[in-house]
Amino acid sequence: AGGENPHHNELRSLAERVAGDAGANALKLRRAGVSLLGSKSSPEDVVTAADRETETLIRQLIQEARPDDAFLGEEGGSSSGSSGLTWIVDPIDGTVNYLYDIPAWAVSIAVVEGDPDPGTWRLLAGAILVPSLGEIYSAALGGGATLNGKPIKALEAPNLSLSLVATGFTYSSERRTGQTAILNGLISSVRDIRRSGSAALDLCSVASGRVNAYYESYVNPWDHAAGSIIAREAGAVVGGFDGNSEGYDLLIAAPPATYARLEEALKPLYGDASIL
Ligand code: IPD
Ligand code: CA
Ligand code: CA
Ligand code: CA
Repeated sequence: AGGENPHHNELRSLAERVAGDAGANALKLRRAGVSLLGSKSSPEDVVTAADRETETLIRQLIQEARPDDAFLGEEGGSSSGSSGLTWIVDPIDGTVNYLYDIPAWAVSIAVVEGDPDPGTWRLLAGAILVPSLGEIYSAALGGGATLNGKPIKALEAPNLSLSLVATGFTYSSERRTGQTAILNGLISSVRDIRRSGSAALDLCSVASGRVNAYYESYVNPWDHAAGSIIAREAGAVVGGFDGNSEGYDLLIAAPPATYARLEEALKPLYGDASIL
């Protein structure tokens, strides 16, 4: 926190501009038809030509503007830098939605200071564009979070049973078994579950109050870096169990009281599923 910072605001503007250009291009590609390149970790884990082209474009635009910064992207683009800042990018979050032409896919761009690891990094700014919906979410450290320029705020529910909770599943079928066991234990305690297919969008939905909470396991830095700063600047807590920071094992995002209730409900379920 600590109020507005012109440097963070500049980074936020760059993230917004690059997300805008990359998202417009990805939408144009989608309208021309998707070309599937193959799959990664499993047959469900697909990658399209647009994923790769969008990451390349984002990388070029960022490197033109800030040649000394490092870069880390889902589709393998990584380069080191000398400034201490790293751009963490998911060119298309929600690739399966993109493939099926479901509007819930997003371009996610964040910039962090320090090692690109959620345990130690300092998130400085992030932007998430949802091209099909014409929505851009962004935040800067200490500068608040906005949707299309208007401030947004995470929404508490009065109790867990009136909380709408978003979640997602990884591509590994073995791990999905544990994740669905947890979901099965949780569903009767909450208002309902949403599975949007984009972790970035789920975090934006926490930030804007479209859901009360989000949790997921096995999410990578590019899935949640931008969404985490947007959710935090909108008043949400983002972390793991017991005050730990968010990580690959678990990420929970919700405004404080809802977070505490969801954490309490999830802990025994994670214990039984032995995910943590
Ligand atoms: C996926 C989405 C999905 C989440 C998966 C992610 P991708 O990212 O964010 O919502 O449940 O864990 O891998 O592959 O579409 O960029
Ligand atoms: Ca992703
Ligand atoms: Ca992706
Ligand atoms: Ca992917």
